[in-house]
Amino acid sequence: MYIASRTFLITGAASGLGAACAERLVEEGGRVVLCDLSDAIEDLSARLGAAAIAVRTDVTSAEDMQAAVDAAVAHGGEKGLAGVIHCAGVVSVAKLLDRQGQPADLEAYARTVQINLVGTFNVMRLAAAAMAANSSGEDGERGVIINTASVAAFDGQVGQCAYSASKAGVVGMSLPAARELSRHGIRVMAIAPGVFETPMMGDIPDDAVAALEQAVPFPKRLGRPEEFARLAEQIITNPMLNGEVIRLDGGIRMQ
Ligand SMILES: NC(=O)c1ccc[n+]([C@@H]2O[C@H](COP(=O)([O-])OP(=O)(O)OC[C@H]3O[C@@H](n4cnc5c(N)ncnc54)[C@H](O)[C@@H]3O)[C@@H](O)[C@H]2O)c1
Repeated sequence: MYIASRTFLITGAASGLGAACAERLVEEGGRVVLCDLSDAIEDLSARLGAAAIAVRTDVTSAEDMQAAVDAAVAHGGEKGLAGVIHCAGVVSVAKLLDRQGQPADLEAYARTVQINLVGTFNVMRLAAAAMAANSSGEDGERGVIINTASVAAFDGQVGQCAYSASKAGVVGMSLPAARELSRHGIRVMAIAPGVFETPMMGDIPDDAVAALEQAVPFPKRLGRPEEFARLAEQIITNPMLNGEVIRLDGGIRMQ
């Protein structure tokens, strides 16, 4: 799949990994639809120029997401929506039992799963319906979906029951979704980042960041959002990448 003059819907586009993907795709001549709850998508859209539009979207809402997909199809003109990079997500930390032995809040658990996992399903189902209507390109390709998991899907830490479960769900959906959508020429991939320098990590104290950096075998630093965007670009342009989850983590294995 080519990026130039094709249209991609990016969720979580106001910040971090999603914003880096938007910048990268526009640099490569692509068109982008920036979706997020945050109004910061308006500023990014203004900076990226005519190639970008912003659509305020809650990825857990069927109506919001359908409106965003419709806007992306319109922004794509006769070529429609070529792909999705789904980066919207939240991190949460809560132990099953707190220091006083009190059980964790059930609604907080469900909220993380709702945004990270149910939101991913919502984005996939509506984007796939739109992309299945595209005319097919080389190899019969009609679209590509890139989801964002996390290394916490595989090596979750204490306090990450909700986050790890939500991201493990994203991992689990990749293969069945790729198998099902293959008949429409739509690929499904996921990226499982290690620890990246984004606002999501903003609340972590400096000494904890230094410890995380030391835990990365190589290179001994946090990932940069543009490194995530480079992998997303490779997934879009390389048709043999399908049904797989790629760890992008410098070799870190969380303890
Ligand atoms: N930064 C990391 O170290 C890291 C590591 C592993 C996985 N991830 C995953 O990468 C993705 C992107 O994270 P990031 O680091 O760029 O974080 P970020 O906080 O910088 O960006 C996440 C964006 O998602 C948006 N968002 C949250 N809930 C939403 C909703 N319901 N609808 C629409 N938008 C919503 C936020 O407004 C925000 O702009 C997330 O899924 C996160 O879990 C990040």
